[in-house]
Amino acid sequence: MGESSVTVRPARNILGSMRVPGDKSISHRYAMLAALAKGRSRFQNFSPGADCASTLGCVRALGCATERDEQDAVIVEGLGPQLQAPNQPLECGNSGSTMRMLAGIVAGQTFSSEMIGDESLSRRPMKRIIEPLSRMGAQIQAADGGCAPLRIRGGTLQGIEYHPPVASAQVKTSLLFAGLLAEGKTTVEEPSRTRDHGELALRAFGATVDRSRNTVSIAGGQELHPLEAYIPGDISSAAFFLCAAAIFPQSNLVIDGVLLNPTRSALLDVLSAMGSRISMVRVEEQHGELMGTIALVPGPGPAITIEGALTTLLIDELPVLAAVAPFTAGGLEVRDAGELRVKESDRLSAVTHNLRAMGAQVEQTADGWRMPGDQKLHGADIQSFGDHRIAMAFAIAALRAEGETCVHGAECVAISYPGFFADLERVVER
Ligand code: S3P
Repeated sequence: MGESSVTVRPARNILGSMRVPGDKSISHRYAMLAALAKGRSRFQNFSPGADCASTLGCVRALGCATERDEQDAVIVEGLGPQLQAPNQPLECGNSGSTMRMLAGIVAGQTFSSEMIGDESLSRRPMKRIIEPLSRMGAQIQAADGGCAPLRIRGGTLQGIEYHPPVASAQVKTSLLFAGLLAEGKTTVEEPSRTRDHGELALRAFGATVDRSRNTVSIAGGQELHPLEAYIPGDISSAAFFLCAAAIFPQSNLVIDGVLLNPTRSALLDVLSAMGSRISMVRVEEQHGELMGTIALVPGPGPAITIEGALTTLLIDELPVLAAVAPFTAGGLEVRDAGELRVKESDRLSAVTHNLRAMGAQVEQTADGWRMPGDQKLHGADIQSFGDHRIAMAFAIAALRAEGETCVHGAECVAISYPGFFADLERVVER
């Protein structure tokens, strides 16, 4: 991808109705489980982002045909629990979800695989999956510091009981996928609740998964059946537009067909607490996942602190919340967000750097920030740091700044949301 810049002009208002592309977390999981389900699965509104394309590329390398049909639905021809040995490294690109979750699947195969990624992914921590998958019986070699490339020699896995030290849905899902292919029972007890798409997807494909509070378990050897599903709009993509609407007093924004899974929708509670009025209509369930229409009308509200379990549930929405926090009435404090340092970029520092470039007052702590509300920011040169959520977060902050903002390295929005800038222009009033 070549570097490209996008200039964002200030806006007066956010108005209109829209849809967002299919959820990235669900798309990854459905594509991976479809590979393990013998027969044809079909997914409408599959994420158009480069990350999910990486997952589909890996699924093909493991012997499963995939295509887009005339309705743009993704088809995966699953092989069942035994996949084919890849004759090339599994290219995960920028996608931590692809590498971590698919590692659980290749760990349970009879062959060896190599998993590689781009520069950012090759810096991200993989010990969090290497350790438990090794305990299950996989042999895994990594580069220095427990990073990619990973060489995974699969085999017969044994179920384990595991207590991950960090709350990570990718780790939980990786172990549940490995557990599906293992002998015996695999149990994961998380330090705090994370998104539950792995559990829901396994059930949608016909597996039994038990859950009680923060503990999930799966028995090995269960057979999956193929799935036809519509994937709800990604609420982490909707987040950019919701946060934009929240900082213009005259906004009125409706987003249709968006994921409302309670482990993903904490942003709606936070925006409400910050003063917005949010309503949900036409709520329906799709294979265990809730989806519906959100309408947001903004309003002033008090200062907000995000910490503990709430930080975990909001992890992907924190960059945009932080980027708009200076424009809110009360400001924001975020704690317990050390995980932001090991995302596609160091998101703690990236947000601080860009907010300061725009003239904002922000205090960065060891695991969060404090930003007062009611600030005036000016347009600036913004760096994406190659991170899609940083590029989009600051395209939103730029709407309320005085003067133009140039987002450098804006092409990375294609990781999750190729049409982001075009969709933004449709709801912005100038
Ligand atoms: C994801 C889990 C989160 C999140 C990522 C997607 C998932 O990562 O940040 O964008 O689909 O399970 P962690 O598991 O590292 O917290």
